[in-house]
Amino acid sequence: MYIYDEYDQRIVDERVDQFRDQTHRYLAGEITEDEFLPLRLQNGLYIQRFAPMMRIAIPYGLISTRQVRKLADISRHYDKGYVHFTTRQNVQLNWPRLEEVPDILAELATVQMHAIQTSGACIRSTTTDHFAGVAADEVVDPRPWCELIRQWSTFHPEFAFLPRKFKIAVCGSGEDRAATLVHDIGVHLQKDGQGKIRINVLAGGGLGRTPVIGAVIKEDLEPEQLLNYLDATLRIYNRYGRRDNKYKARIKILVKAMTPEVFAREVETEWHRIKKNSQPLSLSEIKRMATHFTKHDYDPLSDLDFNHLALQGSPEFQRWLKQNVSAHQQTGYSAVTLTLKATSDAPGDVSAEQLDDIANLADRFSFGELRVSHEQNLIFADVPQAQLPELWQALDTLGLATPNRGLLTDVICCPGGDYCALANARSIPLAEEIQRYFEDLDYLHDIGELDLNISGCMNACAHHHVGHIGILGVDRKGEEYYQIQIGGSAGKTASLGKIIGPSFKREEVPDIIRQLMSVYLEQRYEGERFIDTSLRLGLTPFKEKVYGQKAA
Ligand code: HEM
Ligand code: SF4
Repeated sequence: MYIYDEYDQRIVDERVDQFRDQTHRYLAGEITEDEFLPLRLQNGLYIQRFAPMMRIAIPYGLISTRQVRKLADISRHYDKGYVHFTTRQNVQLNWPRLEEVPDILAELATVQMHAIQTSGACIRSTTTDHFAGVAADEVVDPRPWCELIRQWSTFHPEFAFLPRKFKIAVCGSGEDRAATLVHDIGVHLQKDGQGKIRINVLAGGGLGRTPVIGAVIKEDLEPEQLLNYLDATLRIYNRYGRRDNKYKARIKILVKAMTPEVFAREVETEWHRIKKNSQPLSLSEIKRMATHFTKHDYDPLSDLDFNHLALQGSPEFQRWLKQNVSAHQQTGYSAVTLTLKATSDAPGDVSAEQLDDIANLADRFSFGELRVSHEQNLIFADVPQAQLPELWQALDTLGLATPNRGLLTDVICCPGGDYCALANARSIPLAEEIQRYFEDLDYLHDIGELDLNISGCMNACAHHHVGHIGILGVDRKGEEYYQIQIGGSAGKTASLGKIIGPSFKREEVPDIIRQLMSVYLEQRYEGERFIDTSLRLGLTPFKEKVYGQKAA
């Protein structure tokens, strides 16, 4: 993984000192609330319902066990003994004390972590495939490109005060596991017939109150031009993006208003201007970055016969092997997902003790590194297949072997009304009710792949528009209700879900989902996923089932 050089470390250390000074001055009444706001946001600090919420970057989801242990320590000493992994491959503390935040940042800096640009109207942490570098369907490893983007975007002098927040996602594989089509910019890395890297750039995707699927604005870009092209795109956004209305300030609104074709033309002109005066990325720099992401020291192993392996274990192990273990580029190795979706805990929450245990296991089984996924799960990316039974045993003992990756109970869920001041409804208790209702693993495995996403308000932090089932918290005369949509997906053929009808009370929702499932189970073709059945059938049969004949 990328290791800071002296220069990186100095930048991060200096930022801690600056923020310590800013916080002292704010607490002493020397700077106002309004003056402090952009300063704290650019250091990942929101003031929330009950306490500040601190967002810490995990660049492109890659984290070492040393960093995981530091998070455990910080959460024990400065917070309530747990952390929350988010849908943007970040990690959040829900209860830090403002006066202690500079100390937390100083602790983080000792393990090369920070909260720079995790909030505010700037370029946020770049996200990518959680299987980057190991995915069997990978064409180009996105991690060096993410790191180049991180270094380019950090403290970029032109883009510190954009019209609104800006999110970039990178994908380098057949399947898009980074939801690039719903990001401000999506970067698709691919190879041409000669094996040279070429890049497609998408812009104008986003969720929130106006969900939009991004449009391709550039095809076959030479990789040396990536940063120049990103510069050009950001400049057009910075120049024309609306600053008069924060609900219309995201790039998606600009691209829609201009049309993707006109926006692309503007970027192209700007890019040609930039190219005349700026150096392209040098091949030596690209190569240098790639050396930070070389393959681990894999043993020369052969792939095991999984049918045979499964037969040696319990039915629980067999389910986990099928559901939570993914193919790897290297023969004899697999990637393992730990779903952070135990019924009693909020999705994405992990206790300090669990973090320590997880770090110990990652040291033992997966080269001391982990990945954080935007599904709010953790991944051991490099596990020798022969050690899978032993790893399962250890995870099962810790309650971290729930075999539900990608199933209905692997709920993606925002903090909602339990923490967030913007919420219309609580998300976490609904996730728990759904998990309790659908405990039967046979039923869950029969339903198969299903993304269920719950957002507590239209800001869509849990990506509900692109959940196969998306649930949105709404306020009806001061009461918490939930609107349900189906047919959303986040891959390369992303689609936005459609609302099935009037909203429901929380206690009604699990049974409504069961009704939706019954339509699917009756009408699916052999091997067809819920999302495909729902797109094929359209809303009508689902509405009829839930609201009766009239509703259709
Ligand atoms: C609790 C404090 C939070 C606040 C105040 C907050 C606020 C917002 C707002 C205002 C938006 C909409 C932006 C727009 O459309 O212009 C948004 C979007 C988003 N937030 Fe949050 N959020 C919070 C927590 C989170 C958490 C915990 C996560 C991850 C689990 C998250 C991930 C996202 C994502 C992925 C979007 C996607 C929509 C997009 O940017 O296109 N947020 N958030
Ligand atoms: S979706 Fe709304 S309620 Fe949920 S975290 Fe985002 S802003 Fe808060």
